[in-house]
Amino acid sequence: MKAAVYERYGPPEVVAVRDVPTPAPADNEVLIRVHAASVSTGDWRARSLKMPPGFGLFGRLAFGISQPRQPILGTELSGIIAAVGATARTFSVGEKVFAFGGARMGCHAEFRCVAETGLMARMPTNLSFEQAAALSFGGMTMLGFFRRGALVRGERVLVNGASGSVGSAAVQLARHFGARVTGVCGRANVDLVRSLGAHDVIDYTSDDFTAQGATFDVIVDTVGNAGYARVRQSLAKGGRLLVVLGGFADLLLAPVTGRTRRHRVIAGPATARIEDLHQLAAIASAGEFTPLIDEVYPLNRIVDAHKRVETGRKRGSVIVTMGA
Ligand SMILES: NC(=O)c1ccc[n+]([C@@H]2O[C@H](COP(=O)([O-])OP(=O)(O)OC[C@H]3O[C@@H](n4cnc5c(N)ncnc54)[C@H](OP(=O)(O)O)[C@@H]3O)[C@@H](O)[C@H]2O)c1
Repeated sequence: MKAAVYERYGPPEVVAVRDVPTPAPADNEVLIRVHAASVSTGDWRARSLKMPPGFGLFGRLAFGISQPRQPILGTELSGIIAAVGATARTFSVGEKVFAFGGARMGCHAEFRCVAETGLMARMPTNLSFEQAAALSFGGMTMLGFFRRGALVRGERVLVNGASGSVGSAAVQLARHFGARVTGVCGRANVDLVRSLGAHDVIDYTSDDFTAQGATFDVIVDTVGNAGYARVRQSLAKGGRLLVVLGGFADLLLAPVTGRTRRHRVIAGPATARIEDLHQLAAIASAGEFTPLIDEVYPLNRIVDAHKRVETGRKRGSVIVTMGA
């Protein structure tokens, strides 16, 4: 099969399409013929080892000390079941599924095996393969953070970085949960973020949301420039700061930061749960979460896809298709 492979850390050009052995499903696995996969900021970090401040060593521990342990990137996919293992009963050949590979990656390939009890679910029928391939990365991140932040109906949520993969999921999921949503994005994306469901949109190139006197129950920071010191005046009593992107110090200090003001800071890696995948599929099926797609590239343009992600300017998710 064809797969996008990298054997050393570096710029987008370290990734190349190669022929590699097609995997065979173990007894408890299914084999998925991959139709689409996202190239995420997770792939960018694993390829370049550009980690948030203080996480450099963790990057090497997670992805491989001197060279990548997993040569095929790709955290999430959509596709069709091509074969099932001897004891696998949950899925049948021909079913459309989406799956989250997470840190184990391996989705930038024509085929991938997934345990039948793994992070995989049937594809919502109203989504394209490209959209379904982009359900999990931002969606699972934000379901987890909103759960940890105990978001409740009617609360005011501000999403910093509302046009990215995680931010666009945050806007739509916060709306789904009944929040009043303010999105912060660049001028070119104001209409887009409004179309995702944000009630209010702030253009960060002309306005500073922390200088407007408004307060929020939940602030989501996907950009890394809205730490507690900057946003504490913008958090209402009992407010929570969800640090999707922060440094190691933010993570260490999160349990104690803001306590004197009755604020909570929630940081750290997203959790991945099968219940969340099912919940995302249900929300998508109801038409309340449609993953935002930036550009779609064929697998043989994987380098261009990585370059696009590396700009930090993508709108939603960059997708590669396998041409099946
Ligand atoms: N904690 C976790 O487990 C976890 C999980 C997933 C992702 N992450 C991290 O979260 C970060 C975001 O991921 P992503 O995939 O959503 O990235 P992305 O798709 O590249 O989105 C980044 C967004 O930030 C916006 N942006 C840049 N500067 C901004 C500013 N000053 N104010 C407001 N918006 C600004 C950009 O929009 P413009 O073009 O308008 O500037 C862009 O849409 C990444 O660093 C990733 O590593 C963490």
